[in-house]
Amino acid sequence: MMDNKVVVVTGAGGGIGRDMALAMAQRGARVIVNDIGAGLDGSGSSTGPAQQVVDEIRAAGGQAAANTDSVADASSAGRIIESALDHFGRIDAVVNNAGILRDRFFHKMSVEEWDAVIKVHLYGAYYVSRAAANHFKEQNSGAFVHMTSTSGLIGNFGQANYSAAKLGIAALSKSIALDMLKFNVRSNCIAPFAWSRMIGAIPTDTPEQQARVAKIQQMTPAKIAPLAVYLASDAASQVNGQIFSVRNNELFLISQPRPVRSVHRSEGWTPESIAEHAMPALRSSFFSLDRSADVFSWDPI
Ligand SMILES: NC(=O)c1ccc[n+]([C@@H]2O[C@H](COP(=O)([O-])OP(=O)(O)OC[C@H]3O[C@@H](n4cnc5c(N)ncnc54)[C@H](O)[C@@H]3O)[C@@H](O)[C@H]2O)c1
Repeated sequence: MMDNKVVVVTGAGGGIGRDMALAMAQRGARVIVNDIGAGLDGSGSSTGPAQQVVDEIRAAGGQAAANTDSVADASSAGRIIESALDHFGRIDAVVNNAGILRDRFFHKMSVEEWDAVIKVHLYGAYYVSRAAANHFKEQNSGAFVHMTSTSGLIGNFGQANYSAAKLGIAALSKSIALDMLKFNVRSNCIAPFAWSRMIGAIPTDTPEQQARVAKIQQMTPAKIAPLAVYLASDAASQVNGQIFSVRNNELFLISQPRPVRSVHRSEGWTPESIAEHAMPALRSSFFSLDRSADVFSWDPI
């Protein structure tokens, strides 16, 4: 499915990214395995993880090269795309997967915690996509796959920075899909559920928490890879601007905001008439204050 394609997977030194890189290569793609080898909070760096995944791909007979530039800076993100051209002479697909977490309740979150997460996720996805966009436009083809999250699409505690970035990525993807449709460029999102170090940090202090984590551990990162390969391939030529989710053996199409109900008054609204008329009429369609786990309330299948 990916023969003759060159793919960049960011943050591919571990977790979901590693499995996507392996699966891309297994289907014939030449892969740039990007990873700065950072800690979960974005601190530190190591060339080890990216090179290790490259070694795995080569050992299985595939073609790959490592890149350890950060997605979180415009010029280094540009170098990630350049490394695809340097090593393999072209770029066909970009998977924006690199990520970090700095969870904190909103009222305690520092500017630094906000910035660090927005920088890697939202700016990172923008910088890498923007660097690839020129090449995609020129060659009149290309595919973006971005990792979003139900923390942003639905909600979660203690993740204002991450949720804002991930919902921003969904909007970025939609915008790219609209703007670059005329150049035959597609852009889609995946909201993955997978056991990785990113959710390995979930506390296991109580029996309930332990039971929850045991369930989550069934969802392996490898389950995300087939959808990423499909979306990056020409088989998905008619799939654009969509948001999917994968949870173990379940695959979902996620809704996108649309008006659900309207009220109208020919003379217009006052704050009083909104209170007396509009809100009571709209209230039955209000959304509850769900978190991701409230919506995905059944065990992974
Ligand atoms: N695991 C889940 O259930 C889950 C849920 C929703 C969304 N996601 C998203 O999926 C993606 C992968 O997550 P994961 O669970 O595999 O996490 P992970 O921590 O295992 O992988 C993220 C990788 O990104 C790398 N990275 C961090 N900062 C970077 C930077 N500036 N430049 C390049 N690489 C960088 C890290 O070194 C790491 O290897 C992330 O975007 C995450 O937000 C994961």
